[in-house]
Amino acid sequence: MEKDILILAIESSCDETAAAVVKNGREVLSNVISSQIELHKLYGGVVPEIASRKHIEKINQVIEEALEDAGVTLDDLDAIGVTYGPGLVGALLVGVAEAKAISYAKKIPLVGVHHIEGHISANYIENKDLEPPFLSMVVSGGHTHLVLVEDYGKYRILGRTRDDAAGEAFDKVARAIGLGYPGGPKIDKLAREGDPKAIPFPKAHVEGAPLDFSFSGLKSSVLNYINSCKMKGEPIREADIAASFQEAVVSVIAEKTIMAAREYDIHKVCLAGGVASNTALRTRMKEACGKAGLSFYYPSPVLCTDNAAMIGAAAYYEYLAGTRHGLDLNAVPNLKIGQR
Ligand code: KG4
Ligand code: ZN
Repeated sequence: MEKDILILAIESSCDETAAAVVKNGREVLSNVISSQIELHKLYGGVVPEIASRKHIEKINQVIEEALEDAGVTLDDLDAIGVTYGPGLVGALLVGVAEAKAISYAKKIPLVGVHHIEGHISANYIENKDLEPPFLSMVVSGGHTHLVLVEDYGKYRILGRTRDDAAGEAFDKVARAIGLGYPGGPKIDKLAREGDPKAIPFPKAHVEGAPLDFSFSGLKSSVLNYINSCKMKGEPIREADIAASFQEAVVSVIAEKTIMAAREYDIHKVCLAGGVASNTALRTRMKEACGKAGLSFYYPSPVLCTDNAAMIGAAAYYEYLAGTRHGLDLNAVPNLKIGQR
């Protein structure tokens, strides 16, 4: 029997201060998330300076709670994993500095992790049999990437958004229909009362690049539709707008994912990122994958939005591959997927 590997993981790339203890990459012993959403709501989006300050206030508390929940101390850890990019530089630096301090004090390896690779790795936690190769559709507030996971730690981007991320489009449309921030979950809920076929919004295709996305045209079209209703004095049917917008996003994501699976002869598909908790997207992907004979995986909502358990899962495979960062590890706000 091989020795268990215990990793403390830290995530602070945006507006969640999070710490988790993960055993052997797939067993979550604790997963603590302190969300700043209520604070940023006042401004309609994340304010970077406020986010950094709040991370500093919360980080020690969150780590202590994660260790306590897991019933371990810093002395039990084999490594420390931390998100070092992409994200807000000031926010990332809080987690990176903390992780370096623990690594130095306890003389344990430091393993820097890519935030999006973390989102993808969230799928390993509840699907113990999931192994590469598989396709992952990453849909978050900042990213929309169709990624081929060729092996642990080996990523190839097959498609990406040319403009807005899927979650960003959800948030902007939500704001336009007066739902507030963050808009994704609110659109998800309101859309259940609307007709997805009510308004034929354009699909987010990009000419000549079948696996790329473009959501800014869709977003503008929703805003134009709302303005034209206002000008004509017609009622604004929020639920129909939410359902039709969501339909436009979901159908394009499902279509392109299946297309990529066929093209690259891959039989397993996962969702990742905050928008992966969208109920319409999960249902549509399940149907589409079922029809195409593909296995479909998705994480629980708490593992879809930002958390540290997913960073612990990614850090474990990096640790096994021998990735070790030094005390010169810095935050890299525009870190690329697969970049080492
Ligand atoms: O992955 P995440 O927590 O942060 C980033 O790394 O960006 O994703 C946050 C995004 C936000 O845009 C939020 O509106 C969206 O995920 N989101 C959703 C849902 N839950 C969160 N979008 C659609 N439907 C949902 N149920
Ligand atoms: Zn994220």
